[in-house]
Amino acid sequence: MSIIEVRNLNKYYLQGKDKNHILKNISMKVNEGDFLGIIGPSGSGKTTLLYCLSSLETIDEGEILFEGENIKDFSDKKVSDLRQKSFGFIFQFYNLIPNLTAYENILLASVIANKINEERIDSLLEMVGMKEYKNYFPNEMSGGMQQRVAIARALVNEPKVIFADEPTGNLDQKKGKEIMDLLYKLNKENNITIILVTHNEDYLKYCSRTINLIDGEFIE
Ligand SMILES: Nc1ncnc2c1ncn2[C@@H]1O[C@H](COP(=O)(O)OP(=O)(O)OP(=O)(O)O)[C@@H](O)[C@H]1O
Ligand SMILES: [Mg+2]
Repeated sequence: MSIIEVRNLNKYYLQGKDKNHILKNISMKVNEGDFLGIIGPSGSGKTTLLYCLSSLETIDEGEILFEGENIKDFSDKKVSDLRQKSFGFIFQFYNLIPNLTAYENILLASVIANKINEERIDSLLEMVGMKEYKNYFPNEMSGGMQQRVAIARALVNEPKVIFADEPTGNLDQKKGKEIMDLLYKLNKENNITIILVTHNEDYLKYCSRTINLIDGEFIE
């Protein structure tokens, strides 16, 4: 069984009175342990697809199944549980909360999911190489350091799937590669399914599969 299955997904955005067709009849399957790479030109719908797959956005037509169950049939509570506990998110600009320390940013994610485990936070900080910086605020950290904290935050509730939207987009090549190596390790050693949007074709070598999204349609 696929961990995520998409059937005939269509997504529109209204712009003024125009109805723009953003995702066009997309069907795909993601298996547990996949490292799926999504590439495509700017504006082709990559972020929108990631948001639809992770229930951050609603879909207009079609179906998304998580572990064989149709998300359409989930209660609001079950959808938010899915986002908080089964999914982890990593964004291009890290999205850490500025007035919370590294440790507190991670803690907050576990508080929201009601899954507080302070030992786990310490071991995640160690795993991402940020143990000594646990009391640093985001503006005291480099971009690469902030992204490491964001990865620890994404992992704190033991997600099955990590959605990463251009996680290296704001980092230099060396820092970007370190982040990719970390994601690769999580995929290989912890069997976390990863769905990665990237502009960097060099990083597709980390992926077990690649999808090319062009103008809302894809070519595998
Ligand atoms: N909330 C929104 N309301 C209206 N239109 C939107 C919204 N979000 C995205 N769009 C439009 O949908 C299209 C796809 O946007 P999306 O952000 O998914 O592209 P992308 O492939 O992630 O691009 P990039 O590589 O620049 O991040 C674009 O034309 C964009 O203007
Ligand atoms: Mg995008």
